[in-house]
Amino acid sequence: MELSQGNRVVTVTINPAIDQTVTIPNFAAGTVNRVQSSQLDPGGKGINVASFLADFGQPAAVTGFLGADNDGIFHRLFVQKGIEDRCVRITGQTRIGVKISDEALHQTTDINFPGQTPSPADVEQLFAILRELALSHDWFVLSGSIPAGVSAGIYGEMVRTVAGKKVVLDTSGEGFRQAVAAGPWLVKPNVDELREFVGERLDTTEAILKVARSLIERYKIATVVVSMGKEGAIFVEGGETVWAVPPPVEVKSTVGAGDAMVAGIVAGKIRGLALTECARLATAFSMTAISHIGSGLPSIEAVQSAKEQVTIRELSKA
Ligand SMILES: Nc1ncnc2c1ncn2[C@@H]1O[C@H](COP(=O)(O)OP(=O)(O)OP(=O)(O)O)[C@@H](O)[C@H]1O
Ligand SMILES: [Mg+2]
Repeated sequence: MELSQGNRVVTVTINPAIDQTVTIPNFAAGTVNRVQSSQLDPGGKGINVASFLADFGQPAAVTGFLGADNDGIFHRLFVQKGIEDRCVRITGQTRIGVKISDEALHQTTDINFPGQTPSPADVEQLFAILRELALSHDWFVLSGSIPAGVSAGIYGEMVRTVAGKKVVLDTSGEGFRQAVAAGPWLVKPNVDELREFVGERLDTTEAILKVARSLIERYKIATVVVSMGKEGAIFVEGGETVWAVPPPVEVKSTVGAGDAMVAGIVAGKIRGLALTECARLATAFSMTAISHIGSGLPSIEAVQSAKEQVTIRELSKA
């Protein structure tokens, strides 16, 4: 497909992380533990989305914040995948999240460092980049948490800054609440995030649909996707409702199930797919992502064959 101006994607990651997975059999706190192997992977939700898109042949630009002192791992990823790097470099390091993987005891232990706080000048620079990118890009994916010390209103401000663009929002808590009110184009909460948002239990499909429809009406959001782990995801757009259910999948890594789904939705929408086919593609992205170790998609063929295994239930038609 020709890359016309109408399908250029920017993903925004304001709180990235480097994932360090260390393998320690029989890990025990309070003793000396020997590391068997260790691996570093660049992480951060928007960066993951760009990475999935690039693997599917959809070019993307990334922006957000990266610590200047350890940005080499991100630089290598961007070069390798042909991702355009428009990230603001901030003083210090991108935080590292240590995951201790213990295959003997079948458990993992997470040690999460706090992220660096970007300065007000860094934030201003990011908004200047967004305004510039908005001249030539139509899709803006805002994903992930907000670093400590940054206003919870930052995503809402971004939605307003790129008003009129296809803004896809995937965050939680107060950042989600304020950005939703600014009227993004599409939101993809998981069911826990939606529960937190409405303060209700949402234990029936009807309850979930009611909230999704109220978001559409109240904030003029075009599409609401509520993901529910292995139960699949419900896609609501106008009067149309589609439930995409994956088959049982052998989960090798749940890192990025949601990010893969966001990438699949964007790829499907750019290709002009109907909601049913978009839901199928997005679910295939997630299935493919979680059924292999490592980041990104193993291959486009893997996505194509996963698509055939997705069950699509049309709950209501447009
Ligand atoms: N265990 C699983 N088996 C099969 N498919 C799964 C499983 N977990 C997730 N998926 C697929 O991935 C999609 C997104 O997963 P989920 O609802 O867990 O997203 P999320 O909570 O936003 O994840 P993330 O932690 O990446 O933000 C689901 O709709 C489903 O299609
Ligand atoms: Mg998520």
